[in-house]
Amino acid sequence: MIDKDSIAPTGTPERTLLDGLDLERLPRHVAVIMDGNGRWARRRRLPRVEGHRAGIDAVRATVETAARLHLQALTLYAFSTENWKRPALEVAALMSLLKEYLRRELRSLVKNDIRFRVVGRLEGLDPSVQRTLRHGLAATAECKGLLFNIALNYSGRAEIADAARALAAEVAAGKRTPEEVTEEALAARLYTAGTPDPDLLIRTSGEMRISNFLLWQIAYAEIHVTPVFWPDFRCRHFLEALADFQRRERRYGGVGEELSAGPADGAPQVLISR
Ligand code: FPP
Repeated sequence: MIDKDSIAPTGTPERTLLDGLDLERLPRHVAVIMDGNGRWARRRRLPRVEGHRAGIDAVRATVETAARLHLQALTLYAFSTENWKRPALEVAALMSLLKEYLRRELRSLVKNDIRFRVVGRLEGLDPSVQRTLRHGLAATAECKGLLFNIALNYSGRAEIADAARALAAEVAAGKRTPEEVTEEALAARLYTAGTPDPDLLIRTSGEMRISNFLLWQIAYAEIHVTPVFWPDFRCRHFLEALADFQRRERRYGGVGEELSAGPADGAPQVLISR
């Protein structure tokens, strides 16, 4: 049972948004491209790093809302393989913010039954970051509630290439025939294996780009772009994205009427607009 009061007290704009949602038709998996930290800071004449620091509050609010709504999975794009091109000081600050976040929040994640997972090349990160992450992974491994994915050192193309390479090696070793290189086999070798594909992709700060994020998994995702900069993103904006999502008619390549027969094979098994 979703406890609405824990998400938004009665009489608030958030509660109005929440009451307008069909709680039976929430997305199972929401992915977020957190963007606009730098611009948020610049507007305040602060260093960029302060934008990232303020972004942590938005991370906390988003994870909390997703867990309270009993979503199955939330994936936040924290650091792409392209982000290594940023100034070394900014990269170092991002990594230490990440460590600080996990150290501070781990207890609360466990208490709220939130399982944490890294999506990306963990082994390419600094050893001290890896240690903190591995500690978080182990501490939350038995949690059964929200799956909280952090995309770190992540590239959608590299993820697909890695999966293709793994399948090619199996074919070369005679463990699999070329005909057995199917969509399902490839999906099972992605970092997100076993998790439903995102039904909703949110991007903050108004940019209309995918930025190499979950390229395979977002095949049928609805996309919600908000002008809000990530550090300002709160429960209200999350609920607005969910309301927008519920206004869409998801067709999975079919036509509206066919939906009553259920989604096509392989399409995410949710949300037929009424
Ligand atoms: C994009 O803003 C944001 C990032 C590249 C990093 C996001 C990271 C955090 C909020 C902190 C750590 C994350 C977790 C999950 C604890 P930008 O710098 O590209 O902004 P701009 O486009 O305005 O310059």
